[in-house]
Amino acid sequence: MGKTTKVNTVMKQRIAQEIPGWHKRITKLVRDYGLRPVAEVTVEQLYGGIRNVPIQVSDISYVDPQTGIRLRGYNIAELLNLLPKAKNSNYPLIGGLYYLLMVDEFPSEEEAQQVEEEWKERSEIPGYVFDLLNALPRSTHPMTMFSLAILAMHNESVFTPRYIDGMKKSEYWDAYLEDSMNLTAKLPSLAAYIYNLKYRDGKFIPQNPELDWGANFAHMIGKGSDSQADREYQEFCRLFFFLLADHEGGNVSAHTSTIVASALSDVYYAVSAGMDGLAGPLHGLANEECLRWLLNMRESFTSSPTEDQVRQYAEEWLNSGKVVPGYGHAVLRVTDPRFTAQLKFGEKYLPEDEIFHLAEMVNNTVPEVLARLGKVKSPWANVDAITGAIQYHYGITQFDFYTVLFGISRSLGLTTHAVWCRALGRPIERPKSLTTRILEQKISE
Ligand SMILES: CC(C)(COP(=O)(O)OP(=O)(O)OC[C@H]1O[C@@H](n2cnc3c(N)ncnc32)[C@H](O)[C@@H]1OP(=O)(O)O)[C@@H](O)C(=O)NCCC(=O)NCCS
Repeated sequence: MGKTTKVNTVMKQRIAQEIPGWHKRITKLVRDYGLRPVAEVTVEQLYGGIRNVPIQVSDISYVDPQTGIRLRGYNIAELLNLLPKAKNSNYPLIGGLYYLLMVDEFPSEEEAQQVEEEWKERSEIPGYVFDLLNALPRSTHPMTMFSLAILAMHNESVFTPRYIDGMKKSEYWDAYLEDSMNLTAKLPSLAAYIYNLKYRDGKFIPQNPELDWGANFAHMIGKGSDSQADREYQEFCRLFFFLLADHEGGNVSAHTSTIVASALSDVYYAVSAGMDGLAGPLHGLANEECLRWLLNMRESFTSSPTEDQVRQYAEEWLNSGKVVPGYGHAVLRVTDPRFTAQLKFGEKYLPEDEIFHLAEMVNNTVPEVLARLGKVKSPWANVDAITGAIQYHYGITQFDFYTVLFGISRSLGLTTHAVWCRALGRPIERPKSLTTRILEQKISE
Protein backbone atom coordinates (compact mmCIF):
# COMPACT_ATOMS: atom_id res chain seq x y z
CA MET A 1 0.00 0.00 0.00
CA GLY A 2 1.39 3.41 -0.93
CA LYS A 3 1.58 6.25 1.54
CA THR A 4 -1.51 8.44 1.56
CA THR A 5 -0.57 12.03 0.87
CA LYS A 6 -3.84 13.93 0.84
CA VAL A 7 -4.67 15.92 3.96
CA ASN A 8 -8.15 17.10 4.84
CA THR A 9 -7.88 20.51 3.25
CA VAL A 10 -10.28 22.22 5.63
CA MET A 11 -8.40 21.20 8.78
CA LYS A 12 -5.02 21.86 7.26
CA GLN A 13 -5.91 25.32 5.99
CA ARG A 14 -7.58 26.28 9.24
CA ILE A 15 -4.67 25.07 11.38
CA ALA A 16 -2.27 26.99 9.12
CA GLN A 17 -4.40 30.11 9.67
CA GLU A 18 -4.39 29.61 13.45
CA ILE A 19 -0.65 29.05 13.89
CA PRO A 20 0.59 32.66 13.48
CA GLY A 21 -1.84 33.93 16.15
CA TRP A 22 -0.62 31.33 18.66
CA HIS A 23 3.01 32.10 17.84
CA LYS A 24 2.33 35.78 18.48
CA ARG A 25 0.65 35.17 21.84
CA ILE A 26 3.33 32.80 23.06
CA THR A 27 6.24 34.91 21.81
CA LYS A 28 4.80 37.93 23.66
CA LEU A 29 4.29 35.92 26.87
CA VAL A 30 7.80 34.54 26.81
CA ARG A 31 9.33 37.89 25.82
CA ASP A 32 7.50 39.92 28.47
CA TYR A 33 7.28 37.37 31.29
CA GLY A 34 9.79 34.67 30.41
CA LEU A 35 11.52 34.79 33.78
CA ARG A 36 8.39 34.99 35.94
CA PRO A 37 7.97 31.87 38.13
CA VAL A 38 4.55 30.23 37.93
CA ALA A 39 4.99 27.47 40.52
CA GLU A 40 7.25 26.17 43.24
CA VAL A 41 8.20 22.52 43.64
CA THR A 42 8.37 20.93 47.05
CA VAL A 43 10.50 17.98 48.09
CA GLU A 44 7.30 15.99 48.63
CA GLN A 45 6.20 16.66 45.06
CA LEU A 46 9.55 15.59 43.66
CA TYR A 47 9.22 12.21 45.35
CA GLY A 48 5.46 12.09 44.86
CA GLY A 49 4.90 11.77 41.13
CA ILE A 50 5.34 15.52 40.40
CA ARG A 51 1.71 15.98 41.48
CA ASN A 52 0.22 19.38 40.69
CA VAL A 53 3.50 20.77 39.37
CA PRO A 54 2.84 22.47 36.02
CA ILE A 55 5.34 20.96 33.61
CA GLN A 56 3.99 22.06 30.25
CA VAL A 57 1.30 24.07 28.49
CA SER A 58 -1.51 22.31 26.64
CA ASP A 59 -4.20 24.34 24.95
CA ILE A 60 -6.07 21.27 23.74
CA SER A 61 -7.75 20.46 27.05
CA TYR A 62 -7.76 21.31 30.74
CA VAL A 63 -9.15 19.46 33.75
CA ASP A 64 -11.01 21.98 35.87
CA PRO A 65 -11.29 20.53 39.41
CA GLN A 66 -14.84 21.89 39.74
CA THR A 67 -16.35 21.35 36.29
CA GLY A 68 -14.25 18.54 34.84
CA ILE A 69 -12.58 18.24 31.50
CA ARG A 70 -12.76 21.15 29.10
CA LEU A 71 -11.82 20.43 25.51
CA ARG A 72 -10.72 23.62 23.82
CA GLY A 73 -12.46 25.48 26.65
CA TYR A 74 -15.83 23.69 26.49
CA ASN A 75 -17.22 21.32 29.09
CA ILE A 76 -18.85 17.95 28.31
CA ALA A 77 -22.44 19.26 28.39
CA GLU A 78 -21.59 22.14 26.04
CA LEU A 79 -19.75 19.86 23.65
CA LEU A 80 -22.60 17.34 23.56
CA ASN A 81 -24.90 20.19 22.71
CA LEU A 82 -22.78 22.08 20.20
CA LEU A 83 -20.89 19.48 18.14
CA PRO A 84 -22.59 18.24 14.94
CA LYS A 85 -24.39 14.96 15.56
CA ALA A 86 -23.95 11.68 13.73
CA LYS A 87 -26.83 10.65 11.45
CA ASN A 88 -29.88 9.47 13.43
CA SER A 89 -27.91 9.92 16.63
CA ASN A 90 -27.97 11.95 19.83
CA TYR A 91 -24.17 11.98 19.99
CA PRO A 92 -21.47 13.91 18.16
CA LEU A 93 -19.61 12.81 15.08
CA ILE A 94 -16.10 12.02 16.27
CA GLY A 95 -14.84 13.65 13.08
CA GLY A 96 -16.34 16.91 14.37
CA LEU A 97 -14.68 16.48 17.75
CA TYR A 98 -11.33 15.90 16.05
CA TYR A 99 -11.84 19.06 14.02
CA LEU A 100 -12.52 21.03 17.20
CA LEU A 101 -9.45 19.60 18.94
CA MET A 102 -7.19 20.24 15.96
CA VAL A 103 -8.52 23.55 14.70
CA ASP A 104 -9.77 25.13 17.95
CA GLU A 105 -13.19 26.03 16.55
CA PHE A 106 -16.49 24.22 16.14
CA PRO A 107 -16.89 22.62 12.72
CA SER A 108 -19.96 23.01 10.58
CA GLU A 109 -21.79 19.76 9.93
CA GLU A 110 -20.16 19.66 6.50
CA GLU A 111 -16.66 20.07 7.95
CA ALA A 112 -17.28 17.31 10.50
CA GLN A 113 -18.49 15.06 7.70
CA GLN A 114 -15.39 15.92 5.66
CA VAL A 115 -13.13 14.61 8.42
CA GLU A 116 -15.24 11.45 8.56
CA GLU A 117 -14.94 11.00 4.78
CA GLU A 118 -11.22 11.61 4.89
CA TRP A 119 -10.89 8.95 7.59
CA LYS A 120 -12.77 6.45 5.40
CA GLU A 121 -10.37 7.08 2.52
CA ARG A 122 -7.40 6.44 4.80
CA SER A 123 -8.77 3.51 6.78
CA GLU A 124 -7.13 0.63 4.91
CA ILE A 125 -4.69 -1.27 7.12
CA PRO A 126 -1.52 -2.61 5.47
CA GLY A 127 -1.51 -6.41 5.12
CA TYR A 128 1.69 -6.84 7.12
CA VAL A 129 -0.12 -5.56 10.23
CA PHE A 130 -2.59 -8.43 10.01
CA ASP A 131 0.31 -10.85 9.45
CA LEU A 132 2.02 -9.48 12.56
CA LEU A 133 -1.12 -9.83 14.68
CA ASN A 134 -1.86 -13.30 13.34
CA ALA A 135 1.66 -14.41 14.22
CA LEU A 136 1.31 -13.46 17.89
CA PRO A 137 0.14 -16.00 20.47
CA ARG A 138 -3.63 -15.61 20.98
CA SER A 139 -2.90 -15.09 24.69
CA THR A 140 -1.13 -11.80 23.90
CA HIS A 141 -2.81 -8.93 25.75
CA PRO A 142 -4.97 -6.88 23.35
CA MET A 143 -3.19 -3.67 24.42
CA THR A 144 0.14 -5.24 23.44
CA MET A 145 -1.37 -6.15 20.07
CA PHE A 146 -2.80 -2.66 19.63
CA SER A 147 0.45 -0.91 20.52
CA LEU A 148 2.57 -3.26 18.39
CA ALA A 149 0.33 -2.79 15.37
CA ILE A 150 0.50 1.00 15.70
CA LEU A 151 4.27 0.84 16.03
CA ALA A 152 4.56 -1.45 12.99
CA MET A 153 2.73 1.14 10.89
CA HIS A 154 5.63 3.50 11.39
CA ASN A 155 6.52 2.03 8.03
CA GLU A 156 3.72 4.25 6.64
CA SER A 157 5.11 7.41 8.19
CA VAL A 158 4.93 10.50 6.00
CA PHE A 159 6.94 12.58 8.49
CA THR A 160 10.06 10.42 8.65
CA PRO A 161 10.97 10.33 4.92
CA ARG A 162 10.12 14.03 4.57
CA TYR A 163 12.37 14.77 7.57
CA ILE A 164 15.24 12.82 6.00
CA ASP A 165 14.68 14.79 2.78
CA GLY A 166 15.30 18.01 4.72
CA MET A 167 11.76 19.28 5.29
CA LYS A 168 11.65 22.75 6.87
CA LYS A 169 10.87 22.90 10.59
CA SER A 170 7.81 25.02 9.86
CA GLU A 171 6.36 22.09 7.90
CA TYR A 172 6.76 19.42 10.59
CA TRP A 173 3.20 19.88 11.82
CA ASP A 174 1.87 19.31 8.31
CA ALA A 175 3.53 15.90 8.12
CA TYR A 176 2.40 15.11 11.67
CA LEU A 177 -1.17 15.99 10.70
CA GLU A 178 -0.87 13.71 7.71
CA ASP A 179 0.29 10.82 9.90
CA SER A 180 -2.32 11.62 12.54
CA MET A 181 -5.15 11.43 10.02
CA ASN A 182 -3.77 8.21 8.53
CA LEU A 183 -3.33 6.59 11.92
CA THR A 184 -6.59 7.63 13.61
CA ALA A 185 -8.50 6.59 10.47
CA LYS A 186 -7.31 3.02 10.98
CA LEU A 187 -7.77 2.61 14.73
CA PRO A 188 -11.42 1.45 14.86
CA SER A 189 -10.69 -1.20 12.19
CA LEU A 190 -7.46 -2.20 13.90
CA ALA A 191 -9.11 -2.58 17.31
CA ALA A 192 -12.02 -4.49 15.77
CA TYR A 193 -9.59 -6.83 14.02
CA ILE A 194 -7.89 -7.57 17.34
CA TYR A 195 -11.25 -8.13 19.03
CA ASN A 196 -12.42 -10.53 16.31
CA LEU A 197 -9.09 -12.35 16.30
CA LYS A 198 -9.03 -12.88 20.04
CA TYR A 199 -12.67 -13.35 20.97
CA ARG A 200 -14.70 -14.10 17.84
CA ASP A 201 -14.18 -16.12 14.66
CA GLY A 202 -11.16 -14.10 13.54
CA LYS A 203 -12.92 -12.81 10.42
CA PHE A 204 -12.33 -9.23 9.32
CA ILE A 205 -15.52 -7.19 8.92
CA PRO A 206 -15.02 -4.25 6.53
CA GLN A 207 -16.31 -0.80 7.45
CA ASN A 208 -19.85 0.15 6.59
CA PRO A 209 -19.51 3.25 4.38
CA GLU A 210 -22.86 4.50 5.70
CA LEU A 211 -21.63 4.63 9.29
CA ASP A 212 -19.41 7.15 11.06
CA TRP A 213 -16.03 6.49 12.75
CA GLY A 214 -17.54 5.80 16.19
CA ALA A 215 -20.39 3.53 15.12
CA ASN A 216 -18.23 1.69 12.61
CA PHE A 217 -16.23 0.14 15.42
CA ALA A 218 -19.46 -1.44 16.74
CA HIS A 219 -20.30 -2.64 13.24
CA MET A 220 -16.85 -4.20 12.80
CA ILE A 221 -17.15 -6.31 15.96
CA GLY A 222 -20.47 -7.71 14.75
CA LYS A 223 -22.78 -5.12 16.26
CA GLY A 224 -23.84 -3.47 13.03
CA SER A 225 -27.33 -4.86 12.59
CA ASP A 226 -30.51 -2.82 12.76
CA SER A 227 -31.52 -4.39 16.06
CA GLN A 228 -32.30 -2.06 18.95
CA ALA A 229 -29.37 -3.44 20.99
CA ASP A 230 -26.84 -2.94 18.17
CA ARG A 231 -28.06 0.57 17.45
CA GLU A 232 -27.77 1.39 21.15
CA TYR A 233 -24.24 0.01 21.28
CA GLN A 234 -23.30 2.15 18.27
CA GLU A 235 -24.61 5.14 20.20
CA PHE A 236 -22.56 4.16 23.22
CA CYS A 237 -19.40 3.88 21.07
CA ARG A 238 -19.97 7.41 19.80
CA LEU A 239 -20.41 8.67 23.36
CA PHE A 240 -17.51 6.73 24.84
CA PHE A 241 -15.01 7.68 22.09
CA PHE A 242 -16.09 11.29 22.55
CA LEU A 243 -15.70 11.28 26.34
CA LEU A 244 -12.21 9.78 26.63
CA ALA A 245 -10.48 11.72 23.85
CA ASP A 246 -8.27 13.90 26.03
CA HIS A 247 -7.60 14.74 29.69
CA GLU A 248 -4.98 17.53 29.57
CA GLY A 249 -1.27 16.97 29.11
CA GLY A 250 0.05 15.60 32.40
CA ASN A 251 -1.53 12.14 32.59
CA VAL A 252 0.71 9.17 31.83
CA SER A 253 -0.42 8.46 28.26
CA ALA A 254 -0.52 12.10 27.16
CA HIS A 255 2.77 13.03 28.74
CA THR A 256 4.56 9.91 27.50
CA SER A 257 3.33 10.49 24.00
CA THR A 258 4.28 14.17 24.05
CA ILE A 259 7.79 13.56 25.34
CA VAL A 260 8.42 10.83 22.76
CA ALA A 261 7.20 13.09 19.96
CA SER A 262 9.40 15.91 21.27
CA ALA A 263 12.39 13.86 20.10
CA LEU A 264 10.76 14.04 16.63
CA SER A 265 9.91 10.38 16.86
CA ASP A 266 6.84 10.47 14.65
CA VAL A 267 3.18 10.01 15.48
CA TYR A 268 3.32 6.20 15.23
CA TYR A 269 6.09 6.00 17.83
CA ALA A 270 4.41 8.61 20.01
CA VAL A 271 0.95 7.02 20.03
CA SER A 272 2.32 3.52 20.53
CA ALA A 273 4.31 4.79 23.55
CA GLY A 274 1.18 6.52 24.88
CA MET A 275 -0.72 3.24 24.60
CA ASP A 276 1.99 1.48 26.62
CA GLY A 277 1.38 3.94 29.45
CA LEU A 278 -2.37 3.62 29.13
CA ALA A 279 -2.02 -0.15 29.56
CA GLY A 280 -1.03 0.22 33.21
CA PRO A 281 -3.47 -0.68 36.02
CA LEU A 282 -3.07 2.76 37.58
CA HIS A 283 -4.16 4.44 34.35
CA GLY A 284 -6.29 2.95 31.57
CA LEU A 285 -6.83 -0.44 33.15
CA ALA A 286 -8.89 0.92 36.06
CA ASN A 287 -12.27 0.53 34.32
CA GLU A 288 -11.91 -3.24 34.18
CA GLU A 289 -11.23 -3.28 37.94
CA CYS A 290 -14.44 -1.35 38.56
CA LEU A 291 -16.55 -3.87 36.70
CA ARG A 292 -14.81 -6.75 38.46
CA TRP A 293 -15.59 -5.09 41.80
CA LEU A 294 -19.28 -4.73 40.90
CA LEU A 295 -19.53 -8.34 39.71
CA ASN A 296 -17.79 -9.65 42.83
CA MET A 297 -20.13 -7.65 45.02
CA ARG A 298 -23.16 -9.05 43.18
CA GLU A 299 -21.80 -12.59 43.58
CA SER A 300 -21.43 -12.17 47.32
CA PHE A 301 -25.23 -11.76 47.69
CA THR A 302 -27.83 -14.37 46.88
CA SER A 303 -30.12 -11.75 45.31
CA SER A 304 -29.73 -8.13 44.18
CA PRO A 305 -28.45 -6.15 47.18
CA THR A 306 -30.26 -3.17 48.69
CA GLU A 307 -28.57 0.23 49.11
CA ASP A 308 -27.95 -0.54 52.76
CA GLN A 309 -26.22 -3.78 51.81
CA VAL A 310 -24.13 -1.96 49.21
CA ARG A 311 -23.11 0.61 51.81
CA GLN A 312 -22.16 -2.13 54.27
CA TYR A 313 -20.21 -4.02 51.59
CA ALA A 314 -18.24 -0.84 50.77
CA GLU A 315 -17.53 -0.17 54.44
CA GLU A 316 -16.21 -3.70 54.97
CA TRP A 317 -14.14 -3.44 51.81
CA LEU A 318 -12.57 -0.18 52.99
CA ASN A 319 -11.98 -1.57 56.47
CA SER A 320 -9.88 -4.31 54.90
CA GLY A 321 -7.57 -1.54 53.62
CA LYS A 322 -8.52 -1.56 49.94
CA VAL A 323 -9.65 1.23 47.63
CA VAL A 324 -13.07 1.34 45.98
CA PRO A 325 -12.28 1.41 42.27
CA GLY A 326 -13.98 4.13 40.23
CA TYR A 327 -14.04 6.63 43.08
CA GLY A 328 -11.60 9.44 43.81
CA HIS A 329 -9.48 11.54 41.50
CA ALA A 330 -6.10 13.23 41.54
CA VAL A 331 -7.46 16.51 40.11
CA LEU A 332 -11.28 16.52 40.05
CA ARG A 333 -13.21 17.57 43.15
CA VAL A 334 -16.72 16.77 41.86
CA THR A 335 -18.39 13.80 40.18
CA ASP A 336 -16.67 13.34 36.86
CA PRO A 337 -19.01 14.73 34.17
CA ARG A 338 -17.85 11.88 31.93
CA PHE A 339 -19.35 9.53 34.53
CA THR A 340 -22.57 11.56 34.55
CA ALA A 341 -22.88 11.43 30.75
CA GLN A 342 -22.59 7.63 30.81
CA LEU A 343 -24.98 7.39 33.76
CA LYS A 344 -27.57 9.31 31.74
CA PHE A 345 -27.00 6.96 28.81
CA GLY A 346 -27.57 3.97 31.08
CA GLU A 347 -30.68 5.48 32.67
CA LYS A 348 -32.12 5.92 29.21
CA TYR A 349 -31.14 2.64 27.58
CA LEU A 350 -30.52 0.03 30.28
CA PRO A 351 -32.34 1.08 33.46
CA GLU A 352 -33.35 -2.52 34.20
CA ASP A 353 -29.84 -3.97 33.88
CA GLU A 354 -28.85 -5.44 37.22
CA ILE A 355 -25.15 -4.52 37.10
CA PHE A 356 -25.89 -1.02 35.85
CA HIS A 357 -28.39 -0.62 38.69
CA LEU A 358 -25.72 -1.79 41.12
CA ALA A 359 -23.34 0.85 39.73
CA GLU A 360 -26.08 3.44 40.33
CA MET A 361 -26.52 2.28 43.93
CA VAL A 362 -22.77 2.47 44.52
CA ASN A 363 -22.87 6.05 43.25
CA ASN A 364 -25.71 6.80 45.68
CA THR A 365 -23.91 5.37 48.70
CA VAL A 366 -20.11 5.17 48.36
CA PRO A 367 -19.26 8.91 48.20
CA GLU A 368 -20.74 9.39 51.68
CA VAL A 369 -18.82 6.37 53.01
CA LEU A 370 -15.56 7.60 51.48
CA ALA A 371 -16.14 11.15 52.76
CA ARG A 372 -16.48 9.77 56.28
CA LEU A 373 -12.92 8.42 56.05
CA GLY A 374 -11.83 12.05 56.17
CA LYS A 375 -8.77 11.64 53.98
CA VAL A 376 -10.19 11.12 50.48
CA LYS A 377 -9.91 14.45 48.66
CA SER A 378 -12.62 13.58 46.16
CA PRO A 379 -15.07 10.85 47.21
CA TRP A 380 -17.02 11.16 43.94
CA ALA A 381 -17.33 8.80 40.99
CA ASN A 382 -14.73 9.04 38.23
CA VAL A 383 -15.20 8.06 34.58
CA ASP A 384 -14.30 4.42 35.18
CA ALA A 385 -17.04 3.71 37.71
CA ILE A 386 -19.65 2.93 35.09
CA THR A 387 -18.08 2.23 31.68
CA GLY A 388 -17.60 -1.50 32.30
CA ALA A 389 -21.19 -2.02 33.43
CA ILE A 390 -22.46 -0.58 30.13
CA GLN A 391 -19.95 -2.47 27.96
CA TYR A 392 -20.90 -5.65 29.83
CA HIS A 393 -24.58 -5.09 29.15
CA TYR A 394 -23.90 -5.02 25.40
CA GLY A 395 -21.90 -8.25 25.52
CA ILE A 396 -18.36 -6.84 25.65
CA THR A 397 -17.49 -9.14 28.49
CA GLN A 398 -13.76 -9.38 27.77
CA PHE A 399 -12.41 -7.07 30.46
CA ASP A 400 -8.91 -6.91 29.06
CA PHE A 401 -10.25 -5.25 25.91
CA TYR A 402 -11.65 -2.19 27.70
CA THR A 403 -8.32 -0.37 27.65
CA VAL A 404 -8.13 -0.78 23.87
CA LEU A 405 -11.48 1.03 23.63
CA PHE A 406 -10.00 3.78 25.80
CA GLY A 407 -6.93 3.81 23.53
CA ILE A 408 -8.96 4.31 20.34
CA SER A 409 -10.42 7.44 21.86
CA ARG A 410 -7.31 8.74 23.60
CA SER A 411 -5.34 8.61 20.35
CA LEU A 412 -7.39 11.59 19.17
CA GLY A 413 -5.96 13.71 21.96
CA LEU A 414 -2.44 12.32 21.69
CA THR A 415 -2.19 13.08 17.97
CA THR A 416 -3.61 16.58 18.43
CA HIS A 417 -0.98 17.31 21.08
CA ALA A 418 1.71 16.00 18.72
CA VAL A 419 0.56 18.15 15.78
CA TRP A 420 0.33 21.32 17.87
CA CYS A 421 3.68 20.79 19.61
CA ARG A 422 5.28 20.73 16.16
CA ALA A 423 3.14 23.65 14.94
CA LEU A 424 4.41 25.75 17.84
CA GLY A 425 7.99 24.60 17.40
CA ARG A 426 8.23 23.03 20.87
CA PRO A 427 11.72 21.75 21.62
CA ILE A 428 12.77 18.35 22.87
CA GLU A 429 11.61 17.88 26.49
CA ARG A 430 14.40 17.56 29.00
CA PRO A 431 13.32 18.22 32.59
CA LYS A 432 16.04 18.07 35.23
CA SER A 433 16.50 15.34 37.79
CA LEU A 434 18.33 15.78 41.08
CA THR A 435 19.94 13.35 43.48
CA THR A 436 18.86 12.82 47.08
CA ARG A 437 22.30 14.08 48.18
CA ILE A 438 21.79 17.35 46.23
CA LEU A 439 18.37 17.79 47.83
CA GLU A 440 19.79 17.18 51.30
CA GLN A 441 22.52 19.74 50.64
CA LYS A 442 20.02 22.33 49.34
CA ILE A 443 17.87 21.90 52.45
CA SER A 444 20.79 22.29 54.83
CA GLU A 445 21.94 25.52 53.12
C1 LIG B 1 -7.74 8.02 41.64
C2 LIG B 1 -6.79 7.92 42.83
C3 LIG B 1 -5.58 7.07 42.44
C4 LIG B 1 -6.35 9.35 43.22
O1 LIG B 1 -5.39 9.23 44.22
P1 LIG B 1 -4.97 10.46 45.13
O2 LIG B 1 -4.84 11.69 44.31
O3 LIG B 1 -3.80 10.03 45.93
O4 LIG B 1 -6.28 10.62 46.06
P2 LIG B 1 -6.39 11.34 47.45
O5 LIG B 1 -5.40 12.45 47.58
O6 LIG B 1 -7.82 11.67 47.64
O7 LIG B 1 -5.94 10.18 48.45
C5 LIG B 1 -5.91 10.42 49.86
C6 LIG B 1 -6.17 9.12 50.57
O8 LIG B 1 -7.50 8.67 50.25
C7 LIG B 1 -7.43 7.35 49.76
N1 LIG B 1 -8.42 7.16 48.70
C8 LIG B 1 -8.59 7.90 47.58
N2 LIG B 1 -9.54 7.34 46.81
C9 LIG B 1 -9.97 6.25 47.46
C10 LIG B 1 -10.92 5.25 47.15
N3 LIG B 1 -11.60 5.24 46.01
N4 LIG B 1 -11.10 4.25 48.04
C11 LIG B 1 -10.41 4.23 49.20
N5 LIG B 1 -9.48 5.14 49.53
C12 LIG B 1 -9.27 6.14 48.66
C13 LIG B 1 -6.05 7.24 49.16
O9 LIG B 1 -5.67 5.86 49.01
C14 LIG B 1 -5.22 7.99 50.17
O10 LIG B 1 -5.04 7.16 51.29
P3 LIG B 1 -3.63 7.10 52.09
O11 LIG B 1 -3.39 8.52 52.53
O12 LIG B 1 -3.90 6.16 53.19
O13 LIG B 1 -2.62 6.64 51.09
C15 LIG B 1 -7.53 7.32 44.07
O14 LIG B 1 -8.68 8.08 44.34
C16 LIG B 1 -7.89 5.86 43.86
O15 LIG B 1 -7.09 4.98 44.14
N6 LIG B 1 -9.14 5.58 43.37
C17 LIG B 1 -9.55 4.24 43.08
C18 LIG B 1 -8.95 3.74 41.77
C19 LIG B 1 -9.53 4.43 40.56
O16 LIG B 1 -10.73 4.68 40.48
N7 LIG B 1 -8.67 4.74 39.57
C20 LIG B 1 -9.11 5.39 38.35
C21 LIG B 1 -8.75 6.83 38.37
S1 LIG B 1 -9.40 7.73 37.00
